[in-house]
Amino acid sequence: MTTFPVVPRQGAFRKPLATELQTLSDTTYVRVERDEELAIVVIDRQDKLNALNSDVFSQLGRAFDDLARDADLRGVIITGAGEKSFVAGADIGVLSQMDSLGAVRISREGQQIFLMIERFSVPVMAAIGGFALGGGLELALACHLRIASDNAKLGLPEVGLGIIPGYGGTIRLARVVGLGRAVELTLTGGMIDAEEALGLGLVTAVVSRESLLEQAKKRMRRVTRNGPIAVRMALESVYHALDTSMADALNFESTLFGVLASTEDMKEGMGAFSEKRKPEFQGR
Ligand code: COA
Repeated sequence: MTTFPVVPRQGAFRKPLATELQTLSDTTYVRVERDEELAIVVIDRQDKLNALNSDVFSQLGRAFDDLARDADLRGVIITGAGEKSFVAGADIGVLSQMDSLGAVRISREGQQIFLMIERFSVPVMAAIGGFALGGGLELALACHLRIASDNAKLGLPEVGLGIIPGYGGTIRLARVVGLGRAVELTLTGGMIDAEEALGLGLVTAVVSRESLLEQAKKRMRRVTRNGPIAVRMALESVYHALDTSMADALNFESTLFGVLASTEDMKEGMGAFSEKRKPEFQGR
């Protein structure tokens, strides 16, 4: 496995705004590990339970920018460093000093990066080991797949701080767990444990903390063994349907269905079925 840090550089993903009351530091908070066709993006700011500040966002954006150019990539896993936390939210030290304009910019910065993750061309899985609170849960919600360790605690505690979730949480949580449970979780600001999250469909598996990353890779490989163009287009169709009419969504699905019929992968998948062997997809 190769590991390479996401080195902050001048002019990286975006410059922080003056109103964010911080400057880009030289510390590496996001690193990317490669394991064959998978990339593992690790958020590592353990002294603050991996809380998100402008440096983390900038490095996260840069990491996904770089991964977007990697033609061999088939899946991404996002996780937090340390035993205790996935991401414990936005950095409250920064939030406590923002003015109105700064707050809007902070919200948009997070929304933009989470949207980039949601629209990423290969599936992204959140491997939630410990706290996924506020911006941490919003990050997980922007991922396509989510699994959690048995010590995970998830929630949107923002209203207890006198704010609301600002990185898409008020929209995406309801899409995943339904309106009633989303409103309850958002308005109470309460935390739920991994088993409750499983019951809500907020995560699709609960595993031990030690096995979290291996389980995430194993489950991701159930996806990456499939035709890569088909996987990408299936994601596109599902997410496109969230923002459009039924007629348009069905039309889009048919178009993608048609595009796939021209791929070598389709011939390989169906050929392998009739020859009773495993397909070897080339992504063409
Ligand atoms: N922003 C900034 N710092 C944070 C943070 C956040 N969202 N979450 C945790 N930290 C920091 C703590 O301030 C503490 O730093 P310190 O050692 O310099 O004081 C360190 O991380 C460890 O956290 P601590 O609170 O001591 O751990 P705990 O096990 O007692 O509690 C939590 C864990 C997650 C319950 C608690 O840290 C918490 O409630 N965090 C805020 C969660 C939140 O509201 N997130 C949404 C923000 S919009």
